Amino acid sequence: MKKIDRETVQRILDTAEIVDVVSDYVNLKRRGSSYLGLCPFHNERTPSFSVSKSKNICKCFSCGKGGSPVNFVMEIEQISYSEALRYLAKKYNIEIKEHEMTDEERERESERASLFAVNEFALSHFESNLYDTTDGKEIGLSYFYDRGLTDASIKKFHLGYAMEQSDDLLLAATGKGYNVKYLVDTGLCIRTDQGRVYDRFKGRVIFPVFSVSGKVIAFGGRTLKKDLAKYVNSPESLIYHKSNQLYGMYQAKPAIVKHDKCILVEGYMDVISMSQSGVENVVASSGTSLTEGQIRMIHRFTENVTVIYDGDAAGIKASLRGIDMLLAEGLNIKVLLLPDGDDPDSFSRKHTSSELEEYIKQNEVDFIQFKTGILLQGVENDPIARSKVIADIVRSIAVIPEQVTRNIYIKECSRRLEIDERVVSSEVNKQVKALAEKAAEKRLKKSGNDSVDKLENEEKADIEESTREKDLEAAIRNAENQSGTIQFLRPYEKGLLRYVLRYGMLDLCDSIDDTGNPVPVKVIDYIADELKIDDLTFVNADILSTFNEALNISKGDWETDRNRNDAQLMEKRSEYIANGEAQLRETETDIATIERKEKLIVENADRIFQEGKDSFAMLYIEKTLSSHPDSNIRDLTLELVADKHVLSKVHTKYAHIETDEERLGELVPRAIFEYKDAILECRIRKLHDDLRRVASSPTADPEEIRSLMEAHVQLQRLRGEFAKYLGERIINPRK
Ligand code: UTP
Ligand code: MN
Repeated sequence: MKKIDRETVQRILDTAEIVDVVSDYVNLKRRGSSYLGLCPFHNERTPSFSVSKSKNICKCFSCGKGGSPVNFVMEIEQISYSEALRYLAKKYNIEIKEHEMTDEERERESERASLFAVNEFALSHFESNLYDTTDGKEIGLSYFYDRGLTDASIKKFHLGYAMEQSDDLLLAATGKGYNVKYLVDTGLCIRTDQGRVYDRFKGRVIFPVFSVSGKVIAFGGRTLKKDLAKYVNSPESLIYHKSNQLYGMYQAKPAIVKHDKCILVEGYMDVISMSQSGVENVVASSGTSLTEGQIRMIHRFTENVTVIYDGDAAGIKASLRGIDMLLAEGLNIKVLLLPDGDDPDSFSRKHTSSELEEYIKQNEVDFIQFKTGILLQGVENDPIARSKVIADIVRSIAVIPEQVTRNIYIKECSRRLEIDERVVSSEVNKQVKALAEKAAEKRLKKSGNDSVDKLENEEKADIEESTREKDLEAAIRNAENQSGTIQFLRPYEKGLLRYVLRYGMLDLCDSIDDTGNPVPVKVIDYIADELKIDDLTFVNADILSTFNEALNISKGDWETDRNRNDAQLMEKRSEYIANGEAQLRETETDIATIERKEKLIVENADRIFQEGKDSFAMLYIEKTLSSHPDSNIRDLTLELVADKHVLSKVHTKYAHIETDEERLGELVPRAIFEYKDAILECRIRKLHDDLRRVASSPTADPEEIRSLMEAHVQLQRLRGEFAKYLGERIINPRK
């Protein structure tokens, strides 16, 4: 697929209208300022799916799904970001310029289309063989029946039959005008060196392979005899890259999303039998070891994977690597072993669908339990073998990208192998560092840096290594503290980011420039400056990256965009006034009344103008970020702008309801102080810890204790000052 140019992406994002997009799937009713309907992502009887026209986002308050128009389309159609953009482009008749396509590319594009077409023909040919020919019925169909398949399953997976005659497909296809070249390029036919062409699939039952979006891209043909290779498969082609495909994904997609889980098996028959037994969220890697492309495809639909292995030991050991790859992609892995001698196909035929479901639920185990079980078998009492197993598991844990998840498995591993959690944790941390260093080195090599840099880097790594060895305990403690700090600060950082996303472009207060004139300071700049003053950065990675993106946006084309918007609003304002006055002249005759009403019209026009300005500013950052290609940024933005309680409201003594927006001058500085206060608390806690450790050490250095205590007193004093500030009104709101 071609990349869509930036300009067009922006146009699509600007045009797509949430109410409009959602209405294609959900019956929406107007409720106050938003729209409400039944959530399309889960079953419900009372509507909790809310759509905000002004924010251009939707969200289910029950299951949490939703987002910008792009998000919604991605979720409901289960398609990628760029596919969703194309969907929207089509809906709004926005032309996606493909002009940068070269002749060669265009040729490939039409070649691809031809390959799809010929595959499509073969699919229907194989299917009609199965139902309409004697051999098809007597050999093919009866084979499927023998293996327990129902007509519905045979239809669902479009199974077929290839005739024994070695030019059956060739003749049928060329007779319909399909070019031999494409028959050969898809691999449906084979051309010998002598130039003779014949069918690849002969006298075999056919399992077509579909792409995620349901296009036939390849075929597998199973022999019904004993002697030959069991399966013949389509070769790689322009439209079939085996390593990026999973058999059954097209059919399994909805069930995977519904159960938020994907079951991974080995073969065609395993997929079909399980699916027939009602476990439909199942796909096969088709006998090869798992690839990164396949894993990423699963990840598009769920984070939870259960791998089913049949009982033979050789296969299991070989597949352990696959588990590490799944872990490295950040997926949650469970493993299910079937009773000896059974594969998913035979097992699901022996049991009812509820038995199958129950068996999976009862017997799937996390990968640590699985690995320890497999690797410890027979060597439980051999300490050396045992430590190897531990090292092996530690290596698996270390590839997991999320610290939080790693911690869960560290606990699990220490419990299961009865080793001190801190030992596991420090081993894992060592591995994590080693992996990071390796990755960095790889990058270094790639970027072709000279050897001096590399040497320096190695030295640095050596020094780090030795300090690590020296004070392992402290390192673990530190690591633990750090992740605690990150969690502790998260709500404060989120709070600040929330102001940035919602009100970032609004003016908060004035500052004085070099010439002594007041210049307005925007919320986002105020927050950025406050962080800079104390040399702070957000410690939560997703918050930091979202904040940085917001800063980029605010520094981008804001002036031009705003001026353009102002001009439009100005025009609307004049129109509004002109219309109002025209009407007045028709309906009123009394001069005094006309003058009074004229004044009202102008006031109204001004109010509308100001509201338009404000809402443009308020949506400026969140609009872009809620459609950001990085899902972390997108999700966080949506979470922070789509609260159920849209604004916290305060009743003043004038019975006027004040909104967040009006109170920014008070709220934002307060949030900053609260954040800084929280950071102080973390630092004080750490000092406490250090003090305790140093004081309890037999070789305590009195000088060190004294300086720690001094630092402690200082931090406490600072906190006291903060408390005083937090009790008062901080700055005067802007008039
Ligand atoms: P299996 O031998 O388990 O096949 O290989 P199966 O699907 O269960 O078939 P039945 O039950 O014997 O009919 C698992 C997968 O490995 C690939 C196929 O994708 C198969 O589904 N395979 C196997 C081949 O590609 N070629 C082969 O010769 C064997
Ligand atoms: Mn089988």
